[in-house]
Amino acid sequence: MLRGNWREGVRDGVHFAYTCPAPRRYVHQWYWDSCFHAIVWSRIEPRRARAELRTLLRAAGEDGLVPHTVFWDRPARWRRAPLYATLTVRGSGATASTQTPLLALAWERVAEASVDAPGFAAEGLDGLRRHYDWLARERDPDDDGLLSILHPDESGLDDSPKYAAAFGWMQHDRPGYFVSVERARRLGYRSRAVMAAGDRHVEDVLFNVAYALSLRALARLLGESPHAAVYRARAERTERALVERCLDERSGLFFDLAGAAERPLRVSTWSALAPLALTGLPDDVRRRLVEEHLLHPRRYRAPAGIPSVAMDEPAFRAGFDRFRTWRGPAWVNSAWLLLPAMADLGYETEAADILRGVLAAIDREGFREYYNPHTGRGHGARDFGWSTLVVDLVGRIA
Ligand code: GLC
Repeated sequence: MLRGNWREGVRDGVHFAYTCPAPRRYVHQWYWDSCFHAIVWSRIEPRRARAELRTLLRAAGEDGLVPHTVFWDRPARWRRAPLYATLTVRGSGATASTQTPLLALAWERVAEASVDAPGFAAEGLDGLRRHYDWLARERDPDDDGLLSILHPDESGLDDSPKYAAAFGWMQHDRPGYFVSVERARRLGYRSRAVMAAGDRHVEDVLFNVAYALSLRALARLLGESPHAAVYRARAERTERALVERCLDERSGLFFDLAGAAERPLRVSTWSALAPLALTGLPDDVRRRLVEEHLLHPRRYRAPAGIPSVAMDEPAFRAGFDRFRTWRGPAWVNSAWLLLPAMADLGYETEAADILRGVLAAIDREGFREYYNPHTGRGHGARDFGWSTLVVDLVGRIA
């Protein structure tokens, strides 16, 4: 299936090679999808994994912005302008927005699998440093260690109900989304100016978890270099900020913070559980996420995968919801992030049980974009790339 989704060619003299998330529905290159694809490719054909990540990094601007979406097939013109956060409507090769910053984590995984290309790790270092420096410089104006997203889809969780209170009519599934993109365009997509002008931005938990994981990976890739300590320190700072500012003592969940006033967005979605993946966090904080949420039968413990929204949230919808995503169905990438962390804490049997539910759904329905957590029924795109992350999971969880 992944071979069928492979796209390769030349645009404006630049060679590209990547896996499209789903033929027909998602034909471009997406940032975090490519990271997931590359991790799976690294187990099958590391050569393609390297090509996919190199292609993504090649799309980065001089400043270090790695785009949310890259239009290798043909530039995005005004027709796509309402849907994609491009800098102009005359024809952009990529968006001016970014997506959950997993690139360094994926780069490290692919480098580990690249015994046949030992130079791969070093080859990415300058570009990776530029990208993570850009994030620190542009997306943390209050300098508290937590990065902000400008639009809800920058976290990859486009229509998540957690964004309702923050983005209001500018949510991803509302007409105001286009207005917010247009306003950002007029400000030249200068992140700090966009945040200052609209005050609609969110310090997003999942985005920051991915950031901290990647900073640690980047520090490891830098090895003996004096720069390594800089990224390690940034990772520690972000992890501390997540605990100090996002952790809600009452529920044990981690909530996003909205706007300059940092209003907590108290909706239980799988993003509130994502800090489980940060092994440096206190064990008791991580255990609460598992015992009071992931394994709770009315919250996240479902027959097929991990629901994207807690089942006891009023906003929860188990199946397809009028082209809105992340409102309840289970996606494979959440299992990929959370199950190894559960196993690492000693919940191996429980993690393996949840994985069996995911596998059963995929066995029956194929690689779909997302699944009804109650029934395992597949929904959304078919031949969806990152659902193959189960291949990586099976390798890591007994
Ligand atoms: C949807 C998802 C987003 C993903 C994209 C491509 O928009 O919400 O996370 O990156 O599709 O698969």
